[in-house]
Amino acid sequence: MFFNLIMYTQLRPVLFWIAPETAHRLTIELLHLLRYIPLSKWIMRRNLSYDDPSLACEVFGLKFKNPIGLAAGFDKNAEVLNELSCMGFGFIEIGSVTPLAQTGNPKPRVFRLPKDKVIINHMGINNAGAAAVAKNLKRHSRRRVIVGGNISKNSTTSNAAAAADYERAFVKLYDSVDYFVINVSCPNVENLRGLQDSEQLRGIVETITEQRKYHDTYKPVLLKLSPDLSAVQIEEVLSLVFEYGIDGLVVANTTTKREGLRTSPAILSRISSGGLSGAPLLSNTIDMVHYIATLTKRQLPIIASGGVMNEDDALQLLNAGASLVQIYTGFIYNGPGFVKRILKRILKSG
Ligand SMILES: Cc1cc2nc3c(=O)[nH]c(=O)nc-3n(C[C@H](O)[C@H](O)[C@H](O)COP(=O)(O)O)c2cc1C
Repeated sequence: MFFNLIMYTQLRPVLFWIAPETAHRLTIELLHLLRYIPLSKWIMRRNLSYDDPSLACEVFGLKFKNPIGLAAGFDKNAEVLNELSCMGFGFIEIGSVTPLAQTGNPKPRVFRLPKDKVIINHMGINNAGAAAVAKNLKRHSRRRVIVGGNISKNSTTSNAAAAADYERAFVKLYDSVDYFVINVSCPNVENLRGLQDSEQLRGIVETITEQRKYHDTYKPVLLKLSPDLSAVQIEEVLSLVFEYGIDGLVVANTTTKREGLRTSPAILSRISSGGLSGAPLLSNTIDMVHYIATLTKRQLPIIASGGVMNEDDALQLLNAGASLVQIYTGFIYNGPGFVKRILKRILKSG
């Protein structure tokens, strides 16, 4: 079969030879092309999907065919949802989407650190804007996968005016996604993480939950946190979550920390700022998921995101209290067959 012949282990050195952002764009374009190749999606689904009724789960009122999703940032503009869904994901999070299109930070802005199984990015939430993304989503209206809409504010909008930005993106995408994630934790937009402070966050959460009341269909709203929050900050966020009826948390985004890396300090200082993702995040993700799940007596759904590089990592996060798990960097390092491997491991664990 096609996918068994072109194994990702052979393809990866080629992709890793190309600059990360170019390799990413090339991948999206190749996925686009599949639309014109008869049976390609059927072949992908046959080889990469792993459907078993015992993997299905219901979380914040939505029925997922399995608990493994693609994290925000890969298909920011909802360009290739159908093609990605053929790779077996139980859900896909698009975005981050801002009300207006923005180009993000100057390039180069994505770096691979293969020694550490890490990516550092300071993309700065480049995206096509809420109207264009809503249009793309309409094209995928007959999709077979649950889609989350990750929303944020434009970089030029001050934190004081942020709530209105989140609201505009929320309204534009409301009819086109199944759940929302409020991204207040991206380290690549100046001061964005400051929106996690209680009073700033209250303004956003209040605006969004009020706006939701005007819609006939209820859409779950989650908050995506930074992995660098202290225990006290997490507890402050949790009190707002319960006060406003937020449906869950995504734990967590990329970190600004650089501890314990094998990559040389010279390379790291050349890259300088940016959010780090991949292997080093895992232990903190497990701790944070476990902490929140314990505090909330597992009553608040958690999507775990951060550091899943093998099948056991995903299982550890589910055992720590996550309802769903997302992958991004692990997907880049392991390739499309990774989802199926994780699902088989979950099934085997009973
Ligand atoms: C290149 C890149 C772009 C990303 N863009 C976004 C984004 O736009 N919004 C967001 O909430 N998270 C974004 N993320 C963070 C991921 O969604 C995920 O939370 C993080 O990478 C940790 O998971 P991982 O270790 O499995 O990669 C991005 C990550 C990467 C590597």
